[in-house]
Amino acid sequence: MSSNEQQYESQVAVPHEYFHNMSKMDYNNPHVAFVRELFQNSVDAGCKNFILVFDRSTNEVVAIDDGCGMTEDIIRNRLLVMGGTHKDSQDAIGAFGHAKVLIYFSWESYEIRTNNIRVIGKSNHYSISKLDPNDVIKGTVSTIKISEEVDFDKITRCKDFFEYCETNVIITRIIIDKNGDEEFVSIFRPKLVKEICIPIESDFMSIYIGSDIGEYSNQYVYIRSNGVLMFNNWSNVLKRPIVVETKGSARDLFTQNRDSFKREYASKFQELITRINNDNVSMTNAALQNFFNKNIPTVDKRKKDGERKLKIPVENGKFISWGKTKAEWKLYFKKRKIKNIKYFMEHVVNEYKTFTNTQDDIMLGFVFDPSVDGVMVGTSNLFINPISIDLHRKNKRKMIYVILDIICHELAHFETLKHEGYSYHNEGFVGRLHKIKLLFWDVDFWYKEYKKCCANS
Ligand SMILES: Nc1ncnc2c1ncn2[C@@H]1O[C@H](COP(=O)(O)OP(=O)(O)OP(=O)(O)O)[C@@H](O)[C@H]1O
Ligand SMILES: [Mg+2]
Repeated sequence: MSSNEQQYESQVAVPHEYFHNMSKMDYNNPHVAFVRELFQNSVDAGCKNFILVFDRSTNEVVAIDDGCGMTEDIIRNRLLVMGGTHKDSQDAIGAFGHAKVLIYFSWESYEIRTNNIRVIGKSNHYSISKLDPNDVIKGTVSTIKISEEVDFDKITRCKDFFEYCETNVIITRIIIDKNGDEEFVSIFRPKLVKEICIPIESDFMSIYIGSDIGEYSNQYVYIRSNGVLMFNNWSNVLKRPIVVETKGSARDLFTQNRDSFKREYASKFQELITRINNDNVSMTNAALQNFFNKNIPTVDKRKKDGERKLKIPVENGKFISWGKTKAEWKLYFKKRKIKNIKYFMEHVVNEYKTFTNTQDDIMLGFVFDPSVDGVMVGTSNLFINPISIDLHRKNKRKMIYVILDIICHELAHFETLKHEGYSYHNEGFVGRLHKIKLLFWDVDFWYKEYKKCCANS
């Protein structure tokens, strides 16, 4: 530095509009995110009640909770510090120490009352004072002034958000009109409830078929953390909503704005969406998934306990079957020919395993759901629908063709799942299907084998 050069110390300036502009750019929907982040902090604070007041007479949003509240240290060193967070636990939804920008700094002004402390602030400026002992509160009350009418209205309309959350918190919304009178009080109950677990192995999410919530909303995959909705993803093939409950640290899973997954989780999630879009009939079929949940032993369990014997009226315990009712499949099993199909199916799959030197244990079974001809569950359970086969009972050659066709299709799922970790009806799948068919597609030969099965059964 030359001797006559002058040096000035300064700081990067943060104008008041900075936070507001950043929030509008950062979030897919800053108004829903505003409600979500207020609620998220209260849920993490362990509250039992959460009240959201929309006061049209003052253009203020007030969030009240009866959670753990904050000490002055937490306020000064966590809440009102960029990137400051007090959440180290895996169970917390919050993790980034960023939401304060959206819930407090982005608007006209804010007031936070918690325990015996009051903070009054405007963007990054604030003052702190002690409350009168009579005014001490348990929990936290945040009052945010939203000067822009459009923003206030958009936030007021975000009430639906709570219907897609599933927590134990009692949520109340109060709207106060321009004259300061109470206009509307609503208590929210979760509308989207997880109903059926889809048994997919994943270290960061559990997947469920959700309750029926109406046509348009049914076409979404809802991603939640501790039951709080983070974001959703549209899928035109869905007839029932899918709920993804995430596991593990929010900091690792989500982008800071919590509007999407990050890094490898984004691609794993995309795989799930593609799978849902491709195999929606079997993946999102409530009856089918219920069956898989109840009946199919997990690989671990099978290893530990040995093959679980299922009570079915066929001799081999490895062969499982199901119908909507027990009576339904019992009736079907009375027909002798189903045994022939069973023996034939075992024969075909064993042949495939010999040809390809496959050591994997593939459990075989029947599925009686009219929406599918066959289904492969993971890499260990292959089901075919005997009713689809029975349709062709008058033409045995055609029947053999159909059985082979279904088995080859499901084996192509087996192979793609085993080698690629996922299975879509894409070109890779078709390639494998061709190879499998080339291995043993000979209807004449299998027709003779089927007759042998009939003779032996
Ligand atoms: N309603 C509340 N009750 C108790 N503590 C709260 C409340 N709101 C905020 N806090 C405290 O303030 C801290 C900062 O909150 P903020 O929402 O900015 O970040 P975060 O929740 O930690 O992370 P994220 O950015 O993911 O939301 C929290 O970690 C928590 O300790
Ligand atoms: Mg937070």
